[in-house]
Amino acid sequence: MKIGFIGLGKLGFPCALAMAAKGHEVLGYDINSKNMSLEPRGYNETCEDGVTPMNTILQSSTLRFGSLQSVVDRADLLFVAVQTPHDARFEGITRLPEERVDFDYRFLVDAIKSISASAKTPKNVIIISTVLPGTIRNEVLPHASDLLRLCYNPYFIAMGTTIRDFLHPEFILLGAHHPETTQAATRFYATICDAPIYCTGIENAELIKVAYNTYIGMKIVFANAIMEICHKMPNTNVDAVTGGLKLATRRLISTAYMEGGMGDGGGCHPRDNIALSWLARKIGLSYDWFESVMVARERQTEWLADIMCSYDLPKGLIGYAFKAGTNICVGSPALLLERILEERGHEVFRYDPVVEKAERDLVQMPPHVFLVGTNHTQFAQLKLPRGSVVIDPWRFVSANEGVHIVRVGAAEWQG
Ligand SMILES: NC(=O)c1ccc[n+]([C@@H]2O[C@H](COP(=O)([O-])OP(=O)(O)OC[C@H]3O[C@@H](n4cnc5c(N)ncnc54)[C@H](O)[C@@H]3O)[C@@H](O)[C@H]2O)c1
Repeated sequence: MKIGFIGLGKLGFPCALAMAAKGHEVLGYDINSKNMSLEPRGYNETCEDGVTPMNTILQSSTLRFGSLQSVVDRADLLFVAVQTPHDARFEGITRLPEERVDFDYRFLVDAIKSISASAKTPKNVIIISTVLPGTIRNEVLPHASDLLRLCYNPYFIAMGTTIRDFLHPEFILLGAHHPETTQAATRFYATICDAPIYCTGIENAELIKVAYNTYIGMKIVFANAIMEICHKMPNTNVDAVTGGLKLATRRLISTAYMEGGMGDGGGCHPRDNIALSWLARKIGLSYDWFESVMVARERQTEWLADIMCSYDLPKGLIGYAFKAGTNICVGSPALLLERILEERGHEVFRYDPVVEKAERDLVQMPPHVFLVGTNHTQFAQLKLPRGSVVIDPWRFVSANEGVHIVRVGAAEWQG
């Protein structure tokens, strides 16, 4: 199929590459000309097989770039993946502010306006960008020309595994508006994967997208509550408890995210929770569950800071990317922890070899109380200065001579 891709950022670029790799003729356009190139980007990406380096995919890609007009003219199907940003205060690396606001839809509205101005014949337009329920109908459709036939198709993709998640989704979600576009999208996805297609109304699809993300945040907060209980009660171990819960696949759904560790992070989950908390206030929800998830995440992070502060040693963070294997720090719970420590007057040493793209020898440093903020695999064998304490919310750091390891939520620690 002839695909047009508008918005070649962290989501759009890898998805456009994946569509081209599946044999589609993909022409991309981005208002930022730097993003109209097959040069590697600054962030890590695990490719479909988890092995092929991104550079290899880029070198052999048939993805091409063109003006907005040429992209609109040529495409049978136009995907729109422009940003719907949030204020930095709502990213999850600071304390939850009292104020709430919706996402910023100016980029999406501008993109729809410019596609409308370029469309000379009817165009199937698929919006991927994350929005709160009600946005497409109330804020986007009024700016779309009659020639645009819209469908809302959010992606359940995690940063760092975009190509893999695009090619192997759990399901495809279509928020139907124009039947032609829903049918065209269904034909298109048949060429990508055999995942089930769930077709529903636009508002339902908008809500499913943000509900999915916030459900993950809720699961993590829950697993971390179990971790804290296990840390405070002798003879309990969080991994033993979640190991049992993970067997309940009939009632508790999947084993994913059912592990104690740092709070939820990334560019989507904390901000989606806060945005739904904004919606909760707007529509007078009887209980703002989304705020509670964010407050719990913050308190759990404060509690980890309490454990660090119970040791009279300088404070250090080992790992501050938002999750293992990535150099992306957006929404990182480790950065929230750093801020909390700074609020308490501590200067925090921090080190992340994946973010900084450099390994450091820490053994010669003065002893610190370190907290492992990201479970990058290499930290399992990390060597640290004698006299240090390691707070390990992942329970995976191996023994270091002269270093006391606190396995958070594990039975052996009875503080
Ligand atoms: N990054 C992810 O893994 C991910 C996953 C699921 C959903 N999302 C959602 O997808 C959307 C995009 O996210 P992202 O992370 O790729 O954002 P991003 O900021 O990395 O990329 C957006 C791109 O759109 C471009 N753009 C903006 N206005 C444009 C216009 N009028 N015409 C052409 N290009 C335009 C920008 O220059 C930028 O390159 C957001 O709504 C986000 O919430 C992202």
